[in-house]
Amino acid sequence: MPNSLIAIYPGSFDPLTNGHLDLIARGSRLVNHLIVAILNNTQKQALFAVAERIEMLREATTQFSNVEIDSFGGLLVDYAARRNANAIVRGIRAVADYESELQMAHLNRRMRPETETIFLMAGAQFSFLSSRMVKEVITLGGDVSSFVPDAVERRLRAKFPQKR
Ligand code: PNS
Repeated sequence: MPNSLIAIYPGSFDPLTNGHLDLIARGSRLVNHLIVAILNNTQKQALFAVAERIEMLREATTQFSNVEIDSFGGLLVDYAARRNANAIVRGIRAVADYESELQMAHLNRRMRPETETIFLMAGAQFSFLSSRMVKEVITLGGDVSSFVPDAVERRLRAKFPQKR
């Protein structure tokens, strides 16, 4: 057993939702240091720039003293090696998430056995929630205030000022 558990919670976080935040809170209680790492994906068109996502995550996680916000490019396992991380944290909402998460965990373990993936079940109240749905609801004029932290809602309102 390593005496210090450093975990990475990777994702797109475009944008951060209350479901992600719940996982950060729960993950931070399990490990010594939790690195929330935003994938800097040049292939994918994002709503928020990585710098904006970092800002929102920092604002929403100030109460967690062992949580760090960072971004990475390339392979997650290479980033894990650079950060000396022994775990990856991922959330599973429903059976639909399982298959791709299983594949990713196997692949990552094959490439770097030193980093174990830890799955947390998403809170039941967040099982329907995704960044994609939040973007769809705000684009169509819906209220997302119960789905995202204040820091995110403020920026969504700024991006979609014509919406309520
Ligand atoms: O929030 P997401 O989009 O479901 O997160 C997916 C993420 C960032 C965890 C995954 O795409 C990833 O790790 N990408 C980095 C590239 C990589 O390591 N790929 C091989 C494992 S799938």
